[in-house]
Amino acid sequence: DKEGHKHFMAKEIAEQPTVIAEAIRAYLPSGSDEVRLPGEGLDFGQVDRLTMVACGTAYFACLTAKYWFEQLARIPVEVDIASEFRYREPPIPDRTVALFVSQSGETADTLAALRYCEGKADKIVSVVNVPESSIARESQLALEIHAGVEIGVASTKAFTCQLSVLLMLALKAAQDRGTLTPEQIADHLSALRGLPALLNAALDQEDAIRTAAQKLSEARDVLFLGRGAMYPLAHEGALKLKEISYIHAEAYASGELKHGPIALIDKHMPVVVMAPRDALFDKSISNMQEVMARKGKVLLISDDDGIAEAQDGVWSTVRMPHAHPSLTPILYAVPAQLLAYHTAVAKGTDVDQPRNLAKSVTVE
Ligand code: F6R
Repeated sequence: DKEGHKHFMAKEIAEQPTVIAEAIRAYLPSGSDEVRLPGEGLDFGQVDRLTMVACGTAYFACLTAKYWFEQLARIPVEVDIASEFRYREPPIPDRTVALFVSQSGETADTLAALRYCEGKADKIVSVVNVPESSIARESQLALEIHAGVEIGVASTKAFTCQLSVLLMLALKAAQDRGTLTPEQIADHLSALRGLPALLNAALDQEDAIRTAAQKLSEARDVLFLGRGAMYPLAHEGALKLKEISYIHAEAYASGELKHGPIALIDKHMPVVVMAPRDALFDKSISNMQEVMARKGKVLLISDDDGIAEAQDGVWSTVRMPHAHPSLTPILYAVPAQLLAYHTAVAKGTDVDQPRNLAKSVTVE
């Protein structure tokens, strides 16, 4: 049942404030001043290293979480694509936690990577949407993301629920390791409780995003740029656009622009810049200006302050609410998803069943 929406994808994008509120409640009960894990949980005080493995969108969730685990909990993190990890057979040092992220819990490569870590990693943890799945059953600690059934082939609400659970896990790690003060943890947790309201404000920007998407639908290639945790999100934005609109899209770390991809920029090339007004904003904007100096068309996604400062000469803007820096990767997923969705609708593609794709990749 699409509940009045034209596609399951639209319904699942719109559901995000509700399902994320549920995911938050599951690990951060109301009134609690700390993140709680089910069962025996996990003591990050005993952990020296985290290895995260996944495919596709779940892999981009891992790449985003790397920034959180490193910055908030000071844990060294490696992130791998499951199909590479399983055949590379990397050494797993002592005191390593292996973490597998999968919506379906049945992705063949991710499951094989998990089995490779059995008996090698100190603990096998998964972040899954389907609690009775193979990946959940075979891990020592399975953390549910509470997204509910996801039908659209292009993952949306599962991605942001994965991110929300991973952020809470990183905050749990910071609690255990004492890398943040109790006041800092409290500040993060109170921001997190406000996330559903921020997501609603992001969804309210749908009209502006639809207008931008109409212009984007005429492009042959699109570049996505971001810095910090916005960089993996740029990858997710590019993947969504490719999957459902069939427009070629690529993501680059903004700082990599001048190391090659700037050669592609001309008046036909839309460039989506995801840049909240944070510590890296000035750097991102200077990269954005390099694009505009070569007549690239910039779609800037930022907050009020960022847009006020940097909108001169940009092609289009999408306005996000101002948010705590740890939340922006979750929040900015919404315009990335809506941009892909409305571009695909403008092109008339089959949004919920894109060609050549399956919801669950249970074979290699
Ligand atoms: C993209 C998408 C895929 C999946 C990937 C992993 O929109 O849905 O890239 O993220 O196939 O699937 P799971 O999370 O089920 O392991």
